[in-house]
Amino acid sequence: MSGIEIDRRLPEDFFAAALRDDVLKGLTADPKWLPPKWFYDARGSDLFEEITRLPEYYPTRAEREILTTRAPEIAALTRAETLAELGSGSSTKTTLLLDALQAAGTLRRYDPIDVSEAALVASGEQLRRRYPELTIHAVVTDFEERLAIPDSDGPRIVAFLGGTIGNLLPEERSVFLSRVRGGLRPGEWLLLGTDLVKDPATLVAAYDDAAGVTAEFNKNVLRVVDRELAADFDPDDFDHVALWDADAEWIEMRLRARRDLDVRLKELDLTVSFEAGEELRTEISAKFRHEGVQAELATAGFALREWWTDSEGRFGLSLAEAV
Ligand code: AVJ
Repeated sequence: MSGIEIDRRLPEDFFAAALRDDVLKGLTADPKWLPPKWFYDARGSDLFEEITRLPEYYPTRAEREILTTRAPEIAALTRAETLAELGSGSSTKTTLLLDALQAAGTLRRYDPIDVSEAALVASGEQLRRRYPELTIHAVVTDFEERLAIPDSDGPRIVAFLGGTIGNLLPEERSVFLSRVRGGLRPGEWLLLGTDLVKDPATLVAAYDDAAGVTAEFNKNVLRVVDRELAADFDPDDFDHVALWDADAEWIEMRLRARRDLDVRLKELDLTVSFEAGEELRTEISAKFRHEGVQAELATAGFALREWWTDSEGRFGLSLAEAV
């Protein structure tokens, strides 16, 4: 059984340096904000897994339904030799695609791309057992700054699933999609998952579940900052807020200070004050429409070839060709 190739593209001090920059920038801004990528330490990743099983959080199940139905068509249309996956998705979704490509007889290679080497190794080892013939070439990088899609001969399909593209602001999305396009040749493919605009009550419930798991996930960013930057945030000083911005068509998660607070961040030699009721934005999760996705893809140099939704029309999966 051969090992997994790991291609490390992040600078040595990436995590420490990027967190410091983000926290300094975000917590001294008005209004205050933090980027969602810092939710995902080990505890945050476990909490996200728990979210995907909540009755209110439909996107994971809706996307899986589409992939289950459409994976054979994806394989037949793309005849891809390489599946490159941005963000180590749940291995169930990956497996649906790999199985279909294997059944079509074209699959040779799987290139997962993620910021977490631990996540890449864990999922890589599982897949290595299931697909002993598959070449697995993992890339440790961040796809905002240093997106790198490994080169290979046959046609490649890049999968970016889960609706994670919604965490980027519109300008960031366009930069990101253009970079993905820049890493592909004409005739290669992007498979993109996007959560769709729907009634606000359903959307808000998905980000404010009755069991309080999303609230814990949201507050986890404070625990990460406490640990990494010797800060003294008390998660109990904040309330979880999820709201629908109807103009921007995104969900926003925020943390609202329950009282006036001074928070000390020793590593940054910084004290940050919150007024009672002040809100810190921790995530946007944009929701999409068919025409909008098509237009954003076209601007980046992709032609939308297939657009699928789940049976309830909650989530969209795009198969786009680089042109
Ligand atoms: C994994 C980024 C797609 O935006 O729905 C879940 C993260 N945040 N609940 C999303 C998340 C709150 C999720 N993504």
